[in-house]
Amino acid sequence: MTTAAAIDLSTSVGSLRLRNPIIAASGTFGYGAEFAHLVNLNALGAFVVKGLSREPIEGAPAPRVVETASGMLNAIGLQNVGVRAFVAEKLPVLRKYDTPVIANVFGYAIEDYVEVIRILEDAEGLAAYELNISCPNVKKGGMQFGCDPSMVSEVVAAARRAAAKRPLWVKLTPLVTDIGLIARSAAEAGADALTVANTFPAMAIDYRTGKSRLGNPTGGLSGPAIKPITLKLVWEVHKAVKIPVVGLGGVERVDDVLDYLSVGASAVQVGTASFSDPTVTQRLVNGLEDAISQAKAFTIKEIMTNFSAKIG
Ligand SMILES: Cc1cc2nc3c(=O)[nH]c(=O)nc-3n(C[C@H](O)[C@H](O)[C@H](O)COP(=O)(O)O)c2cc1C
Repeated sequence: MTTAAAIDLSTSVGSLRLRNPIIAASGTFGYGAEFAHLVNLNALGAFVVKGLSREPIEGAPAPRVVETASGMLNAIGLQNVGVRAFVAEKLPVLRKYDTPVIANVFGYAIEDYVEVIRILEDAEGLAAYELNISCPNVKKGGMQFGCDPSMVSEVVAAARRAAAKRPLWVKLTPLVTDIGLIARSAAEAGADALTVANTFPAMAIDYRTGKSRLGNPTGGLSGPAIKPITLKLVWEVHKAVKIPVVGLGGVERVDDVLDYLSVGASAVQVGTASFSDPTVTQRLVNGLEDAISQAKAFTIKEIMTNFSAKIG
């Protein structure tokens, strides 16, 4: 029997060393500081801030979130303060924490992504970039960047050139026919790690009123409802590329964390669960030592090879 004292929770996502594999996911943890009275930010592996764009975005009309069976649908419309206000007002507060802060970046054209990264490159206090490529490319008729291997290649290569200072993670969209192909395009274009995955396009309506239950006609599905699907995607991506994978989708309990690690994820992100329990990230960190001990392991690496060693 292993003892909790012997357990090493640390992990690495490429060159980025984390004290544990629990990362708060973009869009569900504000700009980090909002959670400081609920969670010890210095206990987390890392946190990803709300997606940042070139200019501030007001976002979508209310209601922006709605509960669905075992999940949640959101249409926030990528509301954010804009990259310049983030650097001037939010980042200085985050510098006092000893936890890696990851900037989630998005745009509607390749130049947008490049410009946001260029501005962040001049700022201190960030550990990595995470590129959200589940956005419509306005120059290609609104098709999502993340759905097409050549567009993935183009946007990742451009971001890579701009991101000279820091690791570049690319967050994949889940709704593609062959995620391995998309993952390879991102890796070949210079991604340091892949985050798998973003929300699933979905809808919830009220047939009585004939209206969407969201302010927008459609939204993104997240939470436990998507976990079995994203778990498979993480497994597929891990087999397709050599770079590290960060898994997410419906992580609520310590068992969910170990499931993602077992299919090869180097770390996990926690999103929707923070809505029902804002302290969940801290709770997961606290429960991890015991869970790893019960799995008769000492390190995250040992858990990561669990499933692949047995199934492939
Ligand atoms: C309210 C809300 C806002 C989100 N905003 C972003 C965002 O700005 N950028 C991004 O890459 N992902 C965003 N996401 C997606 C989450 O980071 C995550 O990929 C997704 O919710 C799946 O994980 P979960 O099931 O743990 O929530 C958002 C999700 C939710 C629920």
